[in-house]
Amino acid sequence: MSTLQGKIVLVVGGSSGIGFAVAKYAIISHAVDTTVKELTATKAELKLPGEVDGEIVDGEESASVKSLVNRIGEIDHLVWTSGDSIGPSMTPNTNPFESSDVFDVRFWGAIIAAQNAKFRSGGSVILTTGVPVKKPPPGYSVIAGIGGAIDAVVRGLAVDLAPIRVNAVSPGVVDTEIWGNLPVETKNKIMEDTKAKLLVKHVAKPEEIAEAYIFLMKCEYITGQRIDVDGGNSYA
Ligand SMILES: NC(=O)c1ccc[n+]([C@@H]2O[C@H](COP(=O)([O-])OP(=O)(O)OC[C@H]3O[C@@H](n4cnc5c(N)ncnc54)[C@H](OP(=O)(O)O)[C@@H]3O)[C@@H](O)[C@H]2O)c1
Repeated sequence: MSTLQGKIVLVVGGSSGIGFAVAKYAIISHAVDTTVKELTATKAELKLPGEVDGEIVDGEESASVKSLVNRIGEIDHLVWTSGDSIGPSMTPNTNPFESSDVFDVRFWGAIIAAQNAKFRSGGSVILTTGVPVKKPPPGYSVIAGIGGAIDAVVRGLAVDLAPIRVNAVSPGVVDTEIWGNLPVETKNKIMEDTKAKLLVKHVAKPEEIAEAYIFLMKCEYITGQRIDVDGGNSYA
């Protein structure tokens, strides 16, 4: 099995949610000699062989994104999970057009980073879309459009940036900080309804989604693809 030992992984959006879980799993995957006992220990107890560094970037500003990738230098994998909270527009039956301003960080930020990053041999880009691209609930027209743009651009970039591989992960509902802007009762109702509806009968933890990003980094024979990690949402 391949590992991420010696690899440099740039996660943009790594301060919380899915991105944080990807960063955490990338470090664990790095640990070829880590025993199961160590993996079940707390983070502080883990003997982490990787190094972790943090930078601040505004994903909506192309100059900020270019400056980040230039500062970092050569990388192996670019993971883009940045996405500002879409707050009330994530509630079904609200005006879907309120969401149009969330395109910048999710789409353009990711594209600019992918185009300007310097990749080592075997490198890859992993972007983030979401279930509305395939099965939009009411009120998600614009979100579905953004997701569809990311889905399509992954195939274009896979051709244009080859041999750098470019893929996307499409999460279902994940319990992360992104839902924090909603009133607690609204959030709880969305989570309960989702849990009842899904084939897997639970809402995703960020770590369950992170598995797909790690796979896409490690498997050097996949490009131009989207992996749906949605708890069976398509069939629910
Ligand atoms: N959670 C879900 O149910 C779900 C489902 C499908 C798709 N997604 C998508 O998955 C991605 C990650 O979501 P998440 O649930 O992990 O959300 P999250 O926990 O809120 O994480 C979002 C990340 O994006 C960063 N960010 C926000 N605005 C930014 C900006 N302008 N520039 C740079 N970074 C920025 C945040 O950093 P700061 O906190 O420092 O601003 C944070 O690190 C998003 O694109 C989201 O739309 C999520």
